[in-house]
Amino acid sequence: MLPRQRLHLILDPDVALPAAQRFRALQLALILVGIGCTLVDSIPGIDHQLQMGVELSIAVVGLAFAFEYALRLWCAPDLPRLAWLQPNSARWRWALSPAGVVDMLAILPVTGALTWGMILPPDFAAVMVLLFMLKLSAHTPGARLIGRVIYNERRTLLVVLIMFGVVLMAAATLAHIAERTHQPEAFGSIPQALWWAVATLTTTGYGDVVPVTAFGRIVAGFVMISGIGVLALLAGILATGFSEEVKRRDFLRIWELVACVPLFSGIGAQAIADVVARLRARYYPAGAVVVRRGAPGDSMFFIATGEVEVRLNPNSVVLSEGMFFGEMALLDRRPRSADIVTLTPCTMLILNMPDFFQLAGQHPALAQAIADEAEKRRGGA
Ligand code: CMP
Repeated sequence: MLPRQRLHLILDPDVALPAAQRFRALQLALILVGIGCTLVDSIPGIDHQLQMGVELSIAVVGLAFAFEYALRLWCAPDLPRLAWLQPNSARWRWALSPAGVVDMLAILPVTGALTWGMILPPDFAAVMVLLFMLKLSAHTPGARLIGRVIYNERRTLLVVLIMFGVVLMAAATLAHIAERTHQPEAFGSIPQALWWAVATLTTTGYGDVVPVTAFGRIVAGFVMISGIGVLALLAGILATGFSEEVKRRDFLRIWELVACVPLFSGIGAQAIADVVARLRARYYPAGAVVVRRGAPGDSMFFIATGEVEVRLNPNSVVLSEGMFFGEMALLDRRPRSADIVTLTPCTMLILNMPDFFQLAGQHPALAQAIADEAEKRRGGA
Protein backbone atom coordinates (compact mmCIF):
# COMPACT_ATOMS: atom_id res chain seq x y z
CA MET A 1 0.00 0.00 0.00
CA LEU A 2 1.36 3.45 -0.95
CA PRO A 3 2.10 5.89 1.95
CA ARG A 4 -0.65 8.24 0.71
CA GLN A 5 -3.23 5.42 0.63
CA ARG A 6 -2.25 4.34 4.15
CA LEU A 7 -2.49 7.92 5.39
CA HIS A 8 -5.89 8.27 3.73
CA LEU A 9 -7.14 5.22 5.69
CA ILE A 10 -5.80 6.70 8.94
CA LEU A 11 -7.67 9.96 8.28
CA ASP A 12 -10.94 8.18 7.41
CA PRO A 13 -13.35 8.51 10.40
CA ASP A 14 -15.04 5.20 9.56
CA VAL A 15 -11.92 3.01 9.46
CA ALA A 16 -11.27 0.76 12.49
CA LEU A 17 -7.46 0.40 12.06
CA PRO A 18 -5.59 0.97 15.37
CA ALA A 19 -3.57 3.83 13.80
CA ALA A 20 -6.83 5.47 12.64
CA GLN A 21 -8.29 5.10 16.14
CA ARG A 22 -5.16 6.68 17.66
CA PHE A 23 -5.40 9.55 15.18
CA ARG A 24 -9.06 10.12 16.05
CA ALA A 25 -8.24 10.12 19.78
CA LEU A 26 -5.52 12.73 19.19
CA GLN A 27 -7.84 14.83 17.03
CA LEU A 28 -10.59 14.68 19.65
CA ALA A 29 -8.13 15.66 22.39
CA LEU A 30 -6.93 18.64 20.32
CA ILE A 31 -10.49 19.78 19.61
CA LEU A 32 -11.39 19.52 23.30
CA VAL A 33 -8.24 21.46 24.28
CA GLY A 34 -9.15 24.06 21.63
CA ILE A 35 -12.73 24.36 22.93
CA GLY A 36 -11.60 24.48 26.58
CA CYS A 37 -9.04 27.23 25.85
CA THR A 38 -11.48 29.31 23.79
CA LEU A 39 -14.05 29.03 26.61
CA VAL A 40 -11.48 30.33 29.11
CA ASP A 41 -10.46 33.04 26.61
CA SER A 42 -14.08 34.25 26.46
CA ILE A 43 -14.20 35.05 30.23
CA PRO A 44 -14.00 38.85 30.57
CA GLY A 45 -11.13 40.24 32.65
CA ILE A 46 -9.08 37.03 32.98
CA ASP A 47 -5.47 37.25 34.03
CA HIS A 48 -3.24 38.52 31.19
CA GLN A 49 -0.69 35.69 31.59
CA LEU A 50 -3.47 33.10 31.51
CA GLN A 51 -4.96 34.75 28.43
CA MET A 52 -1.59 34.62 26.65
CA GLY A 53 -1.25 30.96 27.63
CA VAL A 54 -4.68 29.91 26.33
CA GLU A 55 -4.27 31.89 23.12
CA LEU A 56 -0.91 30.23 22.55
CA SER A 57 -2.55 26.83 23.09
CA ILE A 58 -5.29 27.76 20.59
CA ALA A 59 -2.59 28.74 18.11
CA VAL A 60 -0.84 25.36 18.60
CA VAL A 61 -4.17 23.53 18.09
CA GLY A 62 -4.80 25.69 15.00
CA LEU A 63 -1.37 24.83 13.60
CA ALA A 64 -1.97 21.12 14.19
CA PHE A 65 -5.29 21.44 12.29
CA ALA A 66 -3.53 23.34 9.49
CA PHE A 67 -1.11 20.39 9.19
CA GLU A 68 -4.06 17.97 9.19
CA TYR A 69 -5.76 20.08 6.49
CA ALA A 70 -2.63 19.84 4.31
CA LEU A 71 -2.56 16.04 4.78
CA ARG A 72 -6.26 15.68 3.93
CA LEU A 73 -5.77 17.81 0.84
CA TRP A 74 -2.83 15.66 -0.25
CA CYS A 75 -4.82 12.44 0.30
CA ALA A 76 -8.01 13.67 -1.44
CA PRO A 77 -7.27 11.68 -4.67
CA ASP A 78 -7.63 8.47 -2.59
CA LEU A 79 -11.21 9.25 -1.57
CA PRO A 80 -13.31 6.59 -3.40
CA ARG A 81 -15.85 9.21 -4.61
CA LEU A 82 -13.02 11.32 -6.15
CA ALA A 83 -10.83 8.47 -7.43
CA TRP A 84 -11.92 9.01 -11.06
CA LEU A 85 -10.50 12.58 -11.12
CA GLN A 86 -6.96 13.83 -11.79
CA PRO A 87 -5.13 14.29 -8.43
CA ASN A 88 -5.27 18.10 -8.49
CA SER A 89 -8.94 18.18 -9.56
CA ALA A 90 -9.73 15.76 -6.72
CA ARG A 91 -7.96 18.11 -4.28
CA TRP A 92 -10.01 21.10 -5.53
CA ARG A 93 -13.22 19.09 -5.27
CA TRP A 94 -12.39 18.09 -1.70
CA ALA A 95 -11.41 21.67 -0.73
CA LEU A 96 -14.82 22.89 -1.96
CA SER A 97 -16.78 20.01 -0.36
CA PRO A 98 -18.57 20.61 3.00
CA ALA A 99 -15.81 18.68 4.89
CA GLY A 100 -13.06 20.68 3.14
CA VAL A 101 -14.78 24.01 3.85
CA VAL A 102 -15.30 23.11 7.55
CA ASP A 103 -11.62 22.14 7.89
CA MET A 104 -10.54 25.35 6.16
CA LEU A 105 -12.80 27.48 8.39
CA ALA A 106 -11.42 25.80 11.52
CA ILE A 107 -7.88 26.98 10.68
CA LEU A 108 -8.64 30.39 9.14
CA PRO A 109 -8.91 32.51 12.34
CA VAL A 110 -5.79 30.99 13.88
CA THR A 111 -3.66 31.17 10.73
CA GLY A 112 -4.99 34.70 10.17
CA ALA A 113 -4.15 35.70 13.73
CA LEU A 114 -0.69 34.17 13.45
CA THR A 115 -0.09 35.99 10.16
CA TRP A 116 -1.19 39.36 11.55
CA GLY A 117 0.43 38.94 14.99
CA MET A 118 -1.17 37.67 18.17
CA ILE A 119 -3.98 40.23 18.16
CA LEU A 120 -7.14 38.16 18.06
CA PRO A 121 -10.51 39.62 17.04
CA PRO A 122 -12.91 40.45 19.94
CA ASP A 123 -15.41 37.65 19.18
CA PHE A 124 -12.60 35.24 18.47
CA ALA A 125 -13.54 32.81 21.27
CA ALA A 126 -17.18 32.48 20.27
CA VAL A 127 -16.28 31.96 16.61
CA MET A 128 -13.57 29.42 17.44
CA VAL A 129 -15.88 27.37 19.68
CA LEU A 130 -18.41 27.22 16.85
CA LEU A 131 -15.75 26.26 14.29
CA PHE A 132 -14.19 23.59 16.53
CA MET A 133 -17.65 22.14 17.22
CA LEU A 134 -18.31 22.09 13.47
CA LYS A 135 -15.03 20.27 12.89
CA LEU A 136 -15.84 17.82 15.68
CA SER A 137 -19.21 16.99 14.14
CA ALA A 138 -17.75 16.73 10.62
CA HIS A 139 -15.14 14.14 11.64
CA THR A 140 -16.94 12.00 14.22
CA PRO A 141 -17.32 8.45 12.85
CA GLY A 142 -21.12 8.73 13.10
CA ALA A 143 -21.41 12.00 11.15
CA ARG A 144 -21.68 10.30 7.76
CA LEU A 145 -24.09 7.80 9.28
CA ILE A 146 -26.43 10.59 10.42
CA GLY A 147 -26.28 12.18 6.95
CA ARG A 148 -27.00 8.81 5.32
CA VAL A 149 -29.96 8.10 7.65
CA ILE A 150 -31.49 11.52 6.92
CA TYR A 151 -30.97 10.94 3.18
CA ASN A 152 -32.51 7.43 3.32
CA GLU A 153 -35.52 8.63 5.30
CA ARG A 154 -35.93 11.92 3.42
CA ARG A 155 -39.37 11.08 2.01
CA THR A 156 -40.88 9.99 5.33
CA LEU A 157 -39.27 12.93 7.11
CA LEU A 158 -40.72 15.29 4.50
CA VAL A 159 -44.23 13.87 5.08
CA VAL A 160 -43.87 14.44 8.85
CA LEU A 161 -42.51 17.95 8.30
CA ILE A 162 -45.45 18.78 6.03
CA MET A 163 -47.80 17.44 8.72
CA PHE A 164 -45.96 19.59 11.24
CA GLY A 165 -46.42 22.66 9.01
CA VAL A 166 -50.13 21.97 8.52
CA VAL A 167 -50.77 21.58 12.27
CA LEU A 168 -48.65 24.66 12.98
CA MET A 169 -50.56 26.87 10.53
CA ALA A 170 -53.95 25.52 11.69
CA ALA A 171 -52.99 26.12 15.34
CA ALA A 172 -51.78 29.68 14.66
CA THR A 173 -54.91 30.51 12.64
CA LEU A 174 -57.35 29.11 15.22
CA ALA A 175 -55.49 30.76 18.11
CA HIS A 176 -55.54 34.05 16.21
CA ILE A 177 -59.34 33.75 15.75
CA ALA A 178 -59.87 32.85 19.41
CA GLU A 179 -57.48 35.29 21.08
CA ARG A 180 -57.03 38.30 18.80
CA THR A 181 -59.50 40.53 20.65
CA HIS A 182 -58.25 39.55 24.14
CA GLN A 183 -54.50 39.63 23.39
CA PRO A 184 -53.92 41.67 20.21
CA GLU A 185 -50.21 42.13 21.02
CA ALA A 186 -49.58 38.33 20.91
CA PHE A 187 -52.35 37.02 18.61
CA GLY A 188 -53.22 40.11 16.55
CA SER A 189 -52.03 38.48 13.32
CA ILE A 190 -51.38 34.90 12.18
CA PRO A 191 -47.58 35.49 11.98
CA GLN A 192 -47.68 36.80 15.58
CA ALA A 193 -49.69 33.75 16.70
CA LEU A 194 -47.11 31.49 15.01
CA TRP A 195 -44.62 32.17 17.84
CA TRP A 196 -47.07 30.69 20.38
CA ALA A 197 -47.88 27.81 17.99
CA VAL A 198 -44.19 26.88 17.50
CA ALA A 199 -43.43 27.05 21.25
CA THR A 200 -46.48 24.87 22.02
CA LEU A 201 -46.25 22.35 19.14
CA THR A 202 -42.57 21.63 19.87
CA THR A 203 -43.59 21.14 23.53
CA THR A 204 -41.14 23.92 24.53
CA GLY A 205 -43.85 25.98 26.27
CA TYR A 206 -42.03 29.18 27.31
CA GLY A 207 -45.25 30.40 28.86
CA ASP A 208 -44.63 34.01 27.74
CA VAL A 209 -47.90 33.88 25.73
CA VAL A 210 -50.88 31.78 26.87
CA PRO A 211 -54.43 31.54 25.53
CA VAL A 212 -57.05 32.91 27.91
CA THR A 213 -60.34 32.10 26.13
CA ALA A 214 -62.03 28.69 26.42
CA PHE A 215 -61.75 28.04 22.65
CA GLY A 216 -58.09 29.14 22.69
CA ARG A 217 -57.36 26.65 25.48
CA ILE A 218 -59.12 23.79 23.65
CA VAL A 219 -56.97 24.59 20.59
CA ALA A 220 -53.88 24.65 22.84
CA GLY A 221 -54.73 21.17 24.20
CA PHE A 222 -54.95 19.72 20.69
CA VAL A 223 -51.71 21.42 19.68
CA MET A 224 -49.86 20.00 22.72
CA ILE A 225 -51.08 16.45 22.03
CA SER A 226 -50.25 16.79 18.30
CA GLY A 227 -46.77 18.08 19.24
CA ILE A 228 -46.03 14.96 21.29
CA GLY A 229 -47.30 12.77 18.41
CA VAL A 230 -45.20 14.53 15.76
CA LEU A 231 -42.03 14.42 17.86
CA ALA A 232 -42.57 10.72 18.67
CA LEU A 233 -43.08 10.03 14.96
CA LEU A 234 -39.83 11.85 14.08
CA ALA A 235 -37.89 10.00 16.79
CA GLY A 236 -39.33 6.67 15.61
CA ILE A 237 -38.42 7.31 11.96
CA LEU A 238 -34.85 8.30 12.84
CA ALA A 239 -34.36 5.39 15.29
CA THR A 240 -35.58 2.82 12.75
CA GLY A 241 -33.47 4.47 10.04
CA PHE A 242 -30.36 4.27 12.25
CA SER A 243 -30.82 0.64 13.14
CA GLU A 244 -31.44 -0.33 9.48
CA GLU A 245 -28.41 1.62 8.25
CA VAL A 246 -26.14 0.09 10.92
CA LYS A 247 -27.38 -3.41 10.01
CA ARG A 248 -26.85 -2.70 6.29
CA ARG A 249 -23.29 -1.44 6.92
CA ASP A 250 -22.38 -4.45 9.05
CA PHE A 251 -23.82 -6.74 6.41
CA LEU A 252 -21.74 -5.12 3.64
CA ARG A 253 -18.55 -5.13 5.73
CA ILE A 254 -18.98 -8.80 6.59
CA TRP A 255 -19.85 -9.59 2.98
CA GLU A 256 -16.49 -8.11 1.92
CA LEU A 257 -14.64 -10.09 4.60
CA VAL A 258 -16.44 -13.31 3.64
CA ALA A 259 -14.95 -12.92 0.14
CA CYS A 260 -11.51 -13.52 1.77
CA VAL A 261 -12.54 -17.05 2.87
CA PRO A 262 -12.22 -19.59 0.00
CA LEU A 263 -14.55 -22.04 1.79
CA PHE A 264 -17.43 -19.68 1.02
CA SER A 265 -16.59 -19.17 -2.64
CA GLY A 266 -18.85 -21.12 -4.93
CA ILE A 267 -21.59 -21.83 -2.34
CA GLY A 268 -24.09 -19.59 -4.12
CA ALA A 269 -25.52 -16.16 -3.42
CA GLN A 270 -28.31 -17.41 -1.10
CA ALA A 271 -25.90 -19.42 1.03
CA ILE A 272 -23.48 -16.46 1.23
CA ALA A 273 -26.34 -14.22 2.36
CA ASP A 274 -27.22 -16.84 5.06
CA VAL A 275 -23.59 -17.00 6.17
CA VAL A 276 -23.13 -13.21 6.23
CA ALA A 277 -26.27 -12.72 8.31
CA ARG A 278 -24.86 -15.08 10.98
CA LEU A 279 -21.23 -13.93 11.16
CA ARG A 280 -19.83 -11.28 13.48
CA ALA A 281 -16.54 -9.50 12.68
CA ARG A 282 -13.99 -8.96 15.46
CA TYR A 283 -10.52 -7.43 15.49
CA TYR A 284 -7.68 -9.00 17.52
CA PRO A 285 -4.25 -7.36 18.05
CA ALA A 286 -1.06 -9.40 17.58
CA GLY A 287 -0.32 -11.77 20.50
CA ALA A 288 -3.97 -12.16 21.59
CA VAL A 289 -5.10 -15.58 22.83
CA VAL A 290 -8.23 -16.36 20.81
CA VAL A 291 -8.82 -19.92 21.97
CA ARG A 292 -7.48 -21.66 25.11
CA ARG A 293 -6.92 -25.42 25.29
CA GLY A 294 -9.45 -27.09 27.59
CA ALA A 295 -11.92 -24.20 27.48
CA PRO A 296 -15.48 -24.99 26.36
CA GLY A 297 -16.03 -24.14 22.69
CA ASP A 298 -19.09 -22.16 21.70
CA SER A 299 -18.00 -20.72 18.32
CA MET A 300 -15.73 -21.20 15.33
CA PHE A 301 -13.55 -18.60 13.61
CA PHE A 302 -12.75 -17.72 9.98
CA ILE A 303 -9.58 -15.66 9.44
CA ALA A 304 -10.48 -12.71 7.18
CA THR A 305 -7.09 -11.02 7.60
CA GLY A 306 -3.91 -11.93 9.51
CA GLU A 307 -2.23 -15.10 10.81
CA VAL A 308 -2.64 -17.25 13.92
CA GLU A 309 -0.55 -19.98 15.52
CA VAL A 310 -2.23 -23.22 16.63
CA ARG A 311 -0.15 -24.45 19.60
CA LEU A 312 -0.41 -28.24 19.58
CA ASN A 313 1.92 -29.88 22.06
CA PRO A 314 4.79 -30.06 21.01
CA ASN A 315 4.27 -28.78 17.41
CA SER A 316 2.56 -25.72 16.15
CA VAL A 317 0.79 -24.88 12.91
CA VAL A 318 0.28 -21.46 11.33
CA LEU A 319 -3.14 -20.71 9.85
CA SER A 320 -3.48 -17.69 7.58
CA GLU A 321 -6.07 -15.58 5.78
CA GLY A 322 -9.03 -17.56 4.47
CA MET A 323 -8.56 -20.54 6.86
CA PHE A 324 -10.70 -21.45 9.84
CA PHE A 325 -10.36 -22.94 13.33
CA GLY A 326 -12.40 -23.82 16.38
CA GLU A 327 -14.60 -26.27 14.47
CA MET A 328 -13.48 -29.38 16.39
CA ALA A 329 -15.00 -28.35 19.72
CA LEU A 330 -18.34 -27.80 17.96
CA LEU A 331 -18.26 -31.01 15.91
CA ASP A 332 -16.95 -33.29 18.68
CA ARG A 333 -18.73 -31.46 21.54
CA ARG A 334 -15.44 -31.49 23.44
CA PRO A 335 -13.28 -28.76 25.04
CA ARG A 336 -10.81 -26.87 22.83
CA SER A 337 -7.93 -29.09 21.66
CA ALA A 338 -5.23 -26.36 21.36
CA ASP A 339 -4.23 -22.82 22.26
CA ILE A 340 -4.58 -20.37 19.39
CA VAL A 341 -2.66 -17.08 19.44
CA THR A 342 -2.62 -14.32 16.82
CA LEU A 343 0.78 -13.76 15.17
CA THR A 344 -0.29 -10.52 13.45
CA PRO A 345 -3.30 -8.21 13.94
CA CYS A 346 -6.27 -10.25 12.72
CA THR A 347 -9.87 -9.72 11.70
CA MET A 348 -11.93 -12.82 12.43
CA LEU A 349 -15.42 -13.75 11.41
CA ILE A 350 -17.08 -15.55 14.31
CA LEU A 351 -19.86 -18.12 13.96
CA ASN A 352 -21.68 -19.11 17.16
CA MET A 353 -22.58 -22.73 17.90
CA PRO A 354 -26.39 -22.48 17.31
CA ASP A 355 -25.76 -20.64 14.02
CA PHE A 356 -23.11 -23.21 13.05
CA PHE A 357 -25.57 -26.09 13.37
CA GLN A 358 -28.37 -24.18 11.67
CA LEU A 359 -26.09 -23.31 8.76
CA ALA A 360 -24.81 -26.90 8.59
CA GLY A 361 -28.43 -28.09 8.30
CA GLN A 362 -29.21 -25.60 5.53
CA HIS A 363 -25.96 -26.08 3.57
CA PRO A 364 -24.71 -29.66 3.98
CA ALA A 365 -21.87 -29.16 1.44
CA LEU A 366 -20.39 -26.40 3.60
CA ALA A 367 -20.71 -28.55 6.74
CA GLN A 368 -19.05 -31.47 4.93
CA ALA A 369 -16.09 -29.30 3.84
CA ILE A 370 -15.56 -28.18 7.47
CA ALA A 371 -15.90 -31.76 8.77
CA ASP A 372 -13.39 -33.05 6.14
CA GLU A 373 -10.83 -30.42 7.21
CA ALA A 374 -11.37 -31.34 10.89
CA GLU A 375 -10.84 -35.02 10.03
CA LYS A 376 -7.54 -34.18 8.25
CA ARG A 377 -6.44 -32.16 11.29
CA ARG A 378 -7.29 -34.98 13.69
CA GLY A 379 -5.21 -37.32 11.51
CA GLY A 380 -2.31 -34.87 11.36
CA ALA A 381 -2.33 -33.86 15.04
P1 CMP B 1 -10.92 -26.60 18.64
O1 CMP B 1 -10.58 -27.88 19.26
O2 CMP B 1 -12.30 -26.10 18.79
O3 CMP B 1 -9.92 -25.47 19.16
C1 CMP B 1 -8.57 -25.55 18.78
C2 CMP B 1 -8.51 -25.57 17.28
O4 CMP B 1 -7.24 -25.76 16.71
C3 CMP B 1 -9.26 -26.78 16.74
O5 CMP B 1 -10.60 -26.67 17.05
C4 CMP B 1 -8.87 -26.75 15.31
O6 CMP B 1 -9.63 -25.81 14.61
C5 CMP B 1 -7.44 -26.25 15.41
N1 CMP B 1 -6.53 -27.41 15.18
C6 CMP B 1 -6.40 -28.50 15.96
N2 CMP B 1 -5.48 -29.33 15.41
C7 CMP B 1 -5.03 -28.74 14.28
C8 CMP B 1 -4.07 -29.08 13.27
N3 CMP B 1 -3.40 -30.22 13.32
N4 CMP B 1 -3.90 -28.23 12.24
C9 CMP B 1 -4.58 -27.07 12.18
N5 CMP B 1 -5.48 -26.69 13.11
C10 CMP B 1 -5.72 -27.52 14.14
